[in-house]
Order: sequence, then C-alpha cells, then structure tokens
Amino acid sequence: MNIHFTEEQEMMRKMVRDFAQKEVAVEVERMEKEDRHPKELIRKMGELGLMGIPIPEEYGGSGMDFISYTIAIHELSKVSAALGVILSVHTSVGTNPILYFGTEEQKKKYIPKLASGEYLGAFALTESSAGSDAASLKTRAKKDGDHYILTGSKAFITNGGVADTYVTFARTSDEKGAKGVTAFILEKDTPGLTVGKTEKKMGLHGTKTVELNFDQCVVPKEQMLGNEGEGFKIAMANLNFGRIGIASQALGIGEAALEHAVNYAKEREQFGKSIARNQGISFKLADMATDVEASKLLVYQAAAMVQADIPCNKEASMAKLYASKTARKTAIEAVQVYGGYGYTEDYPAERFFRDAKITEIYEGTSEIQHIVIAKSLLKD
Ligand code: CAA
Ligand code: FAD
Repeated sequence: MNIHFTEEQEMMRKMVRDFAQKEVAVEVERMEKEDRHPKELIRKMGELGLMGIPIPEEYGGSGMDFISYTIAIHELSKVSAALGVILSVHTSVGTNPILYFGTEEQKKKYIPKLASGEYLGAFALTESSAGSDAASLKTRAKKDGDHYILTGSKAFITNGGVADTYVTFARTSDEKGAKGVTAFILEKDTPGLTVGKTEKKMGLHGTKTVELNFDQCVVPKEQMLGNEGEGFKIAMANLNFGRIGIASQALGIGEAALEHAVNYAKEREQFGKSIARNQGISFKLADMATDVEASKLLVYQAAAMVQADIPCNKEASMAKLYASKTARKTAIEAVQVYGGYGYTEDYPAERFFRDAKITEIYEGTSEIQHIVIAKSLLKD
C-alpha cells in the first residue's frame, strides 16, 4: 500500500501539529504532575472541529474522512498520548455507536453536542469480573414500565466523571453471554448513576479512569440504543473503530520516542564522538524506525478500509497489535538511548514508555487481538 494523503488530510496534519506544539506541549508537564483533566484543551479542540472529525456536517460534525481522524489522533499522541485517548474514546466508542445505531431522535439530541465538544463521550463495557470476556458482564437492566432500572457497576471507564454521556452495556435477559446484552445512552446526571473510585495509573496522566455504579439507576426506555439483545454487537462493531484509534495513538507514541531518541543520539557525546556513531546505537535506531514505519502502514491501511467501507476487523486488530508492540519496544529502546537520563523525568522517554504500555491492554489486550486475527484467518 502506498500512502498518498490528500491536501485536506495534510491540512489536518498541519493544524493538529501546530495545535499540539503551541497549546498542548506547554500543558503536558502540568497534566503529568497534577494528573489534571485537560478541560480547557478539550474546549479548544472543540473549537477547532477536532471533537467531531468524521461526524457528518448535518449532525454538527466536521464531515471529514476517517483517515483525517486517524491523522489527528496520531499527531496529538506524539505530544500527549492522554489527549489522544480522550479523543479516541470520545469519537470512536462514545459518539459513533449513537451515529450508527441511534434513532433519528437520539442522533439529533446527542450528536451535535458531542461533535462540537460541548459534551464529552464515554463507553462503559468493562466490569471488574468481565474484562477480556466482555460478554460475561453482569450489570442488569430490568424493564419497569417506560423505564429500565440498572443495577451493577463498571470498571476502568475513560472520561468517567468528566463525561456527559456514557454508552453503557447491561443485561436485559437471563440468556448467558453476548445474546442478552443491550446498549443504553446514559446522561451523567441520571438518577442512581454515581462515580466511584478513580484509578491511579502508571501513565496517561490527565485522563480520568473511574468506576461507575448503578444503584437502581432509572433510565427512560427512549435511551435504549438499538434493540434489546443487540448491545454486544454494537460494542464489538464500534470497538473496531476504537482499535484503529488506539493503534494511531500507539503510532504517535512510537514515532515521538523515535524522534527524541534520534535527536539525543546525535547530540550526546561519549568517547569523543556522538553516541549515534556507534553501530550499537545506530542499528537500534534503524530497527525502531523500521517498526514505526510498518506500524504506520498497518494503521493507515485499516483507516483506509474503514473509509472505503470494507470490513476490516482483522486489519484493525493487526494494526493495534503491531503498533502497540512497536510503541512499547520503541519507547523502552528510547530510554536506553538516553542512558541514565532516560530513567529520569527530565526527558520524555520514561513517559513514552509508561504511556505506551497501556496500548497493549485497553480496547482488547494483545492476546485478544491475536484471538480476533486467528478467528478471522481460520473461519471457513
Ligand atoms: N462486529 C459485529 N459483531 C461482532 C463482532 C464485530 N466486530 N465481533 C463479534 N460480533 C458478534 C458475533 O457475530 C456474535 O454474534 P452471533 O452469535 O449472532 O454470531 C457475538 O458478537 C459474539 O461474538 P463471539 O462469540 O466472538 O464473542 P466472544 O464472547 O467469544 O468474545 C472477543 C469475543 C473478541 C474476545 C470479545 O469479547 C472482545 O473483543 N473482548 C475484549 C473486550 C474489549 O475490547 N474491551 C474494550 C473495552 S473499551 C476500552 O477499553 C476503551 C479504552 O480503553 C480506551
Ligand atoms: P483480563 O481480562 O482479566 O486479562 C488478564 C490477562 O489475561 C491479560 O493479559 C489478558 O490478555 C489475558 N487473557 C484473558 N483472556 C485470555 C484468553 N482467552 N487467551 C489468552 N489470554 C487471555 N473499558 C471500558 O469499557 N471503557 C473504557 O473507557 C476503558 N478504559 C480503560 C482505560 C484504562 C487506563 C484501562 C487500564 C482499562 C480501560 N478499560 C476500559 C478496560 C480495558 O478494556 C480492560 O482492562 C481490558 O479489556 C482487559 O480486561 P481486564 O483488565 O479485566 O484483564
């Protein structure tokens, strides 16, 4: 595949790069130290049209293609992986399920607010005992007249506590596994919905990851997304977009780690010459660059397939699997290139490593991506 970006896509790259360098870079240290949610940056992203890039203009979005959206996460994540995931979750799994499975009324009610950044979206699938095995979720939604009453809890919800809407999955029948699961749109002030523990994480500082509790949570039946029993398919179909988003986040982290390592290796001198003039370092950089380039091809191939409406579960999983492994490997090699300084907070290599690791875990662990790829290869 030969990547040729259009003029419009290159404009998106330039706009996000400028924004990231001028406005985001100065905030990263504060987000790291204070673990502060970047509300003001998200507001600015809304003004730039970044919170609804692939959302049609008729619903208040920017009406741009999926590749432009992928470029935005890639470029943003080079400077702040935290903002990259906030954007990915908000769009891929916080907004898209409503766009693709919502009624016209639901779309009109929520999409313009989400696409403009007035609302922040979230996605609540995981539970403490249902992570990789998402279909074993236990949160119940019991029909009661014109309402559903939700009881249970969710774990690790990104944007939790700061989001305005949660696409939430609950069991509406006694059927086991995927079949009994239904999706709902929950607003943040739904009676009975409370935010529990906030996780203290290794990386992605500035993002909120929380537990959500549903205690006799009263949800009007109009808030059901799709039909009863369709929830798991809605989750899986949108995780496909989500996995490309996380793959582009990983690509951004890997590329940033490579660029910083190359610059440092050229500048740092030991034994009277730059460390880059040792093959032990230059070959390491060559391997890092090759892996990052391969990730780029997989990520943009998957994005191009979404754009062309070609089924791409396998390719989305391959992009996430490879780009996340590359991000982790490249970031740890960047720490090595920096030597002792790489292990300190004075340089960004240690942050790249801490941020890279999560890309192998969320939106389906690497083991789960292997399962999806293998299933696709082996089916009749
Ligand atoms: N699109 C549409 N439907 C799909 C689908 C897809 N991509 N994948 C599966 N389905 C459907 C299947 O067709 C099946 O329906 P039928 O029985 O009618 O055919 C149904 O869903 C169940 O499928 P499986 O039997 O394959 O389901 P499973 O229980 O074996 O699980 C799995 C499959 C791939 C392991 C899945 O559970 C999974 O992806 N687990 C990982 C969970 C995950 O990714 N969580 C992410 C949470 S969000 C997040 O993490 C956000 C963030 O960090 C930032
Ligand atoms: P487990 O499923 O318990 O897995 C533990 C280990 O066992 C992993 O290595 C896994 O790969 C392996 N394993 C499990 N099953 C198999 C198998 N069949 N074959 C081989 N190996 C297997 N979820 C949401 O719904 N919304 C969010 O917004 C969200 N954001 C998140 C943000 C962060 C920072 C984190 C850490 C998590 C987030 N998650 C979110 C949850 C995330 O998707 C899960 O953590 C992930 O899917 C793994 O589930 P688990 O943690 O329960 O691990």
